[in-house]
Amino acid sequence: MNPTIRRSAALLLTGALALLAGCERPPVDTVQRGYRGLGMIELSNPRIAQQTIADNQSPEATPPMPAGGPPASAVFKNVQVLNDLSVAEFTRVMVAMTNWVSPDQGCAYCHAAGEDLASDSLYTKVVARRMLVMTRHINSDWKTHVADTGVTCYTCHRGKPVPANVWFRNPGPSAAARAGNHAGQNTPAPQVGLTSLPYDPFGPFLDQANEIRVVSTSALPTNNYHSTKQTEWTYALMMNMSQALGVNCTFCHNTRSFASWDASTPQRETAWYGIRMVRDLNKDYLDPLGPTLPPIRHGPLGDGPKVDCATCHNGVYKPLYGVSLLKDYPALAAPAPAPAAAAPVAGVQPITVATLTLVKVYFATGRTELPGDAAAALDALAKAHPGQQLVISGYHDAQGGAAQNEELAKQRAMAVRDQLRQAGIGDQRIVLMKPEQAQGGGGGDNPEARRVEVSLK
Ligand code: HEC
Ligand code: HEC
Ligand code: HEC
Ligand code: HEC
Repeated sequence: MNPTIRRSAALLLTGALALLAGCERPPVDTVQRGYRGLGMIELSNPRIAQQTIADNQSPEATPPMPAGGPPASAVFKNVQVLNDLSVAEFTRVMVAMTNWVSPDQGCAYCHAAGEDLASDSLYTKVVARRMLVMTRHINSDWKTHVADTGVTCYTCHRGKPVPANVWFRNPGPSAAARAGNHAGQNTPAPQVGLTSLPYDPFGPFLDQANEIRVVSTSALPTNNYHSTKQTEWTYALMMNMSQALGVNCTFCHNTRSFASWDASTPQRETAWYGIRMVRDLNKDYLDPLGPTLPPIRHGPLGDGPKVDCATCHNGVYKPLYGVSLLKDYPALAAPAPAPAAAAPVAGVQPITVATLTLVKVYFATGRTELPGDAAAALDALAKAHPGQQLVISGYHDAQGGAAQNEELAKQRAMAVRDQLRQAGIGDQRIVLMKPEQAQGGGGGDNPEARRVEVSLK
């Protein structure tokens, strides 16, 4: 063969191979998940599936300890979560936690060598205690998603102190890597299957609660404010969720109509709860733990790691193929302690009209809706002091981002103002005042702090 032709042929071959490098090597299997002709086909690659199966096996559980014996709280000094266990079962859980989270480092990962086991000197122990509460919360309050299968520390950690799949707030590609404003897209990112969809599917949907809707519900283009951009964000999240579970879109949707719930599979509903659960975990557990973690654990914007679908699922439709390790560790299924018993959750403080000079309205975490009994209490306050101005101040707890919290406190104060307006109180009697210290006292998730106070001036 002519050397030039040979060279071009070789080049062509290299080029073709390079083009194919992004593709999966066959074979490919298909499974019908709906009636034929609906396009509800699940694709899989047996070669890759074999590896995934090998990577997602559960560790052996140790046999349970015989019941009885003194409770852990009677013997140990600083047990705040597992105090309902016997000493034997408590120790068994400590051993399991070590195997699940820090098998290479041992007990010393959370208990400093040579120190009292009751000491909280290591951040890892402080984080682990919060993780115990979180695990119980997932297993008892999110059965809509995790069913009775539930999770243990192993579901996320897999023998590593830092789970393989976590995410941080994303500052985006460096200015040098992009000319002009790409509105968060056109940078092929692994978290969206190397498509050019927006590179951060997490922040808007798995931390903040932006709406995941793009399809118009009417034939004419009215009342649908969803832009092309929002559609792209939605698809970015969908790509990410599919990757996290190792499935195609048809695992949850009928491609004839992505929006229609009637045509979707039951798994889509489970996924809907999963999205809410992930937001809840990030807001109430992972985000607030950020400052407890050392800087080396922080992301480029200084926040702590957060969870997404892949943190538990690791590329499988049910974490660990649905094998429940939890059933061998019922200690992790116990209900999480109610947030500070007797503390107000959402409502107004009990009042007697004669002495009424102040109304405190309590809100649920992250919410701005007035509790049902607020209207009557606010009305009573306004009527009891017709000549006076009403000063409205919003407070928030110490969880979540400061800017986000202040915004929340402001929105709650405005919700109270709107209620007063609706009751016929003129604007001249209403004063919105930002308190000097808007953080309402106490740390973390503090129901008492999530309040708006209405006082007299
Ligand atoms: C991943 C972190 C972690 C590892 C590893 C760990 N522990 Fe713990 N340990 C904790 C936490 C958190 C508590 C407090 C639990 C609570 O408040 O309910 C605790 C408490 C204890 C206590 C009670 C001390 C007291 O007086 O309050 C003992 C005893 C203990 N651990 C033993 C062990 C042993 C033995 C090992 C190794 C087999 C171990 N732990 C491994 C996190 C850990
Ligand atoms: C839903 C997933 C999930 C579950 C379940 C979970 N964790 Fe974590 N854990 C995380 C994430 C995410 C982090 C943050 C990673 C980091 O610290 O950088 C973390 C961090 C930690 C850390 C700090 C590690 C370090 O070196 O910074 C410890 C210790 C820990 N977890 C212990 C536990 C224990 C013990 C349990 C079970 C009682 C548990 N976790 C259950 C997701 C989980
Ligand atoms: C694990 C289940 C699951 C998978 C896989 C999945 N989706 Fe979704 N999808 C959902 C859920 C749940 C919603 C609704 C989210 C909500 O309302 O919070 C949704 C919403 C949507 C919407 C918005 C519909 C509307 O009402 O406007 C579109 C479009 C969509 N998905 C497309 C896709 C595409 C394309 C894929 C594959 C790349 C995919 N989805 C994969 C669960 C899934
Ligand atoms: C805290 C761990 C955890 C996280 C985070 C998580 N899941 Fe799950 N998920 C589970 C467990 C455990 C099951 C198995 C429940 C069962 O056995 O029915 C499950 C089941 C599912 C199923 C049902 C699968 C089937 O075959 O029936 C879907 C769909 C799903 N998850 C989607 C998601 C999506 C989407 C996300 C992210 C938005 C997510 N999950 C986040 C733990 C988790």
